[in-house]
Amino acid sequence: MTHSLLLLPGDGIGPEVTAQVERVVAALDAGISITKHDFGGASIDAHGVPLTEAALDAALKADAVLMGAVGGPQWAAQPYGNRPEAGLLKLRKEMNVFANLRPAVCFPALADASSLKRELVEGLDILFVRELVGGVYFGEPRGIETLPSGERRGVNTQVYTTSEIRRVAEVAFELALKRTGKVCSTEKSNVMESGLLWREEVQKLRDEHYPQITLTHMLADNCAMQLVKNPKQFCVIVTDNLFGDLLSDEAAQLTGSLGMLPSAAIGARSTDGKLRGLYEPIHGSAPDIAGQNLANPSAAILSLAMALRYSFDQHDLADRVENAVSQTLSDGIRTTDIWMQGCTKVGTTDMGKAIITRL
Ligand code: IPM
Ligand code: MG
Repeated sequence: MTHSLLLLPGDGIGPEVTAQVERVVAALDAGISITKHDFGGASIDAHGVPLTEAALDAALKADAVLMGAVGGPQWAAQPYGNRPEAGLLKLRKEMNVFANLRPAVCFPALADASSLKRELVEGLDILFVRELVGGVYFGEPRGIETLPSGERRGVNTQVYTTSEIRRVAEVAFELALKRTGKVCSTEKSNVMESGLLWREEVQKLRDEHYPQITLTHMLADNCAMQLVKNPKQFCVIVTDNLFGDLLSDEAAQLTGSLGMLPSAAIGARSTDGKLRGLYEPIHGSAPDIAGQNLANPSAAILSLAMALRYSFDQHDLADRVENAVSQTLSDGIRTTDIWMQGCTKVGTTDMGKAIITRL
């Protein structure tokens, strides 16, 4: 075995889609060893916490971690720090995967599934680089307190340092060099000091080390608007944790392919030369369709392709997996979320099978 992959199936449709990933890994026969741990709500039910020490330890040791999804209504009453989502945030933080790559790609076969007109989204290919282990998600102070007046006060802190901004901008610039070289950096420098620092540091890094990059800056509210007005103006968008959360969801929806989009969270290359990463489909746990063999496993399988590309350095295999998914779509084999007149409607397992056949 040459690569180790930790699977964290998690909640909702997570176990169903990661089961298809397991089948693809077996079909690839590429020396990838799989281990599994409970995660999120499933881990709360079995062990009382969303991320056990054993699961975290396995994640820190694995060459790559692929998760399904976390969360669901049954854990909504958990105290804040013990919710399924808290397990995910802890995992990101402990793995120090500070750069979250979220491609928003419109598959040609799905252009009509977008809520925007075909001509606006056909050929769309945006790469979000979202800062993932800082900002308001982790800033201190935070909490809810009761004031002497009896009124309650909720606090979160948006905070970024130079190095936190530069390391994620560097990832964005490096990836942009393999694309069009265009990067748009997004913040709210008109109202937030942390946004102004973000803008200044990203520009400085560009001027010092990346003269080939065409860098523009855009306020996050304008970016939200431009994404629905003329999304094809963007190539790489680099932004903070919270704006990246919002804008990447918006962009995912406009591709018409929410069930198709993978993501990768990566950190720095470690001393042994490995680039460990946390890979996940962006669609979430979808409790409404869980356990019914309805979920689209494509995003999870494409997340495996990203792991092959970034953490395992297996670019040929990554291409093969991506082509197999694309071919399955073109052949008109679809789960319900992307089904159209004239296509064959299949469930999760048959979609997995169709992809493996084309592999
Ligand atoms: C995401 C999700 C998470 C986030 C939640 C589940 C904590 O929305 O990955 O985009 O807010 O980062
Ligand atoms: Mg989100």
